Amino acid sequence: MLTLYTHTHTGTSFNELLNKITLGDSYELIKQIPDDSIDLVIMDPPYEFDTGSGAGAFGTKRRNYRKEYISLYHEKGKSTKDTERLRISANKERQRQQLNHISNGFELEILDELVRVMKKINIYIWCSKKQVSKILHYFENINCSTDILTWHKTNPTPTINNSYLPDTEYCIYARENGAYLGGEYETKHKFYITTANKSDKDKFKHPTIKPINIIKNLIINSSKENEIIFDPFSGSGTTCVAAKELNRQYVGIEIDPEYHKISVDRLEGILANGQRSMFMS
Ligand SMILES: C[S@@+](CC[C@H](N)C(=O)[O-])C[C@H]1O[C@@H](n2cnc3c(N)ncnc32)[C@H](O)[C@@H]1O
Repeated sequence: MLTLYTHTHTGTSFNELLNKITLGDSYELIKQIPDDSIDLVIMDPPYEFDTGSGAGAFGTKRRNYRKEYISLYHEKGKSTKDTERLRISANKERQRQQLNHISNGFELEILDELVRVMKKINIYIWCSKKQVSKILHYFENINCSTDILTWHKTNPTPTINNSYLPDTEYCIYARENGAYLGGEYETKHKFYITTANKSDKDKFKHPTIKPINIIKNLIINSSKENEIIFDPFSGSGTTCVAAKELNRQYVGIEIDPEYHKISVDRLEGILANGQRSMFMS
């Protein structure tokens, strides 16, 4: 049974966001989602890292971009007519923005909005170790039960300094009393051990793509057919594709035009190289 939402307090129809991935800023677009309209949130926001070694690959990349920027900036000042250099600079700016979008953390205020739009608090949030305590604290303060799921990668990027390998990703699960929890023995493990999914990264060109089978288990465990799943940081569209394949409705928001296009194509079964996928996901 589809519910028709006609107007919200911003005057825009929620139906315009339903069963789509919309290009835009989730901090703004979420205001168009009515209270008590979402059954489950699965979100994978930009991670927040400690500076230095804990930042792993992102820290190194960010430091490299900063260095390249500084040198490009100085060279640009010397030869402003060098259009090729300006083109490279614009490209670098886009890459820098993309890197920020996936590695500068998220504003905790969005959790207040997510609580507003959920029928009952029922949410999975992928995060870095640095974000774990803040998120747990937020939901425990509003009387939710919480759990931590983990994804362990068997082939993490090597580290050259005195830190442990970056082989673990965390997913906080918060649930209000009465929120649906079903699933099977096989879908309800709290840890996953797989290789880092390089083939998905190659297929859908997103550096932090999540394994779709893990996301499918979360959807099976925490929602029923036709219910509405919301992913405000949808990236290459993993949550929305999983929801579609499992006969759920979905709302996805992605701020980066390139990832947005990849995710919309992915919903149609098209790979980032333009070829049609043999399988949907
Ligand atoms: C960690 S990635 C999500 C990856 C996704 N789970 C997947 O499997 O492909 C986070 C995504 O959030 C997007 N993002 C960052 N800030 C955003 C915002 N304010 N609104 C919408 N999307 C945003 C980034 O561009 C990035 O693609």
